Amino acid sequence: MEGKDLLSVSDLSHEDIQLLISNAIDMKTAGWVSSLSGKVLALLFEKPSLRTRMSFEVAMRQLDGHTVYLSPDEVGLGQRESVPDVARVLGRYADAIAARTFSQETLEVLASNTDVPVINALSDLEHPCQALADLLTIYEKKEELAGLTLAYVGDGNNVAHSLLLAAARTGVNFRIASPGGYEVQERIWQLAQNYAAGSGAEILSTGEPRQAVSGADVVYTDVWTSMGQEAEADRRRQIFAGYQVNGELMACAREDAILMHPLPAHRGEEVTEDVLDGPQSVVFDQAENRMHLQKALLVGMLGGLEIPLTKY
Ligand code: CP
Ligand code: NVA
Repeated sequence: MEGKDLLSVSDLSHEDIQLLISNAIDMKTAGWVSSLSGKVLALLFEKPSLRTRMSFEVAMRQLDGHTVYLSPDEVGLGQRESVPDVARVLGRYADAIAARTFSQETLEVLASNTDVPVINALSDLEHPCQALADLLTIYEKKEELAGLTLAYVGDGNNVAHSLLLAAARTGVNFRIASPGGYEVQERIWQLAQNYAAGSGAEILSTGEPRQAVSGADVVYTDVWTSMGQEAEADRRRQIFAGYQVNGELMACAREDAILMHPLPAHRGEEVTEDVLDGPQSVVFDQAENRMHLQKALLVGMLGGLEIPLTKY
């Protein structure tokens, strides 16, 4: 992983993912590890963030490294300065770049114009750090991954794409219920099918939330309108109305199923308040685990100290 980019979950092998989860568990349970002294992570964000920015900033501080946050207005990515030039300049100062961009292509252009690792901190296509942290949360709660069933209800968006790829890589069965026209992209589905053939995961796409959720170990949802799609919000509210995760839908899952959401959540839209704030919800553990997983990722990419492995 050292020196490599993380633009997509597909940049990681199954072994990479296992190592990240093992290292994150060790770092979380063994306390702070000071191994990135003097290293600088640039945070280049075209969209707002609470968790991603905080978790990267705190992760670097706990590792004795530093961050520099660049907001959308400061850089004028592609406007004040071309994306390749921004990458060339940042690479002269920073040891890695975590970028939140509207388009995946911007990430690819950044990565191809600098030698320092570029991390996808969310794009229109993927949210790999979220998916990896989510696997850590699932593993913590269920003490296994392969053979579990995750049901995703809602938009086939960036979060769904990364989660699908991460699940298929690690043998987690993945069922997604989305309205017609809002399914995951065909290219991602094909890739997931390839991974599933290797890992033994079963993947299913349906229009029926109940079919997806029936007997699931994990029920997952995300906003119906992602950042950048605000103009479509009213139409999406109508289209997704039957895809709300509520008590009735949760009752179709296993009794010990957990409810996951990357946050921010819209209570009363994609998930009801009683479910999001109820006993099955692990959404704040997910938020915390972003930091632990990203610590493991940063140490892996930037070459930190050797960390003893927990086998899982
Ligand atoms: N889940 C997540 O990425 O949250 P932010 O948009 O607040 O970073
Ligand atoms: N799908 C959401 C995820 C936010 C963390 C978005 O892109 O806005």
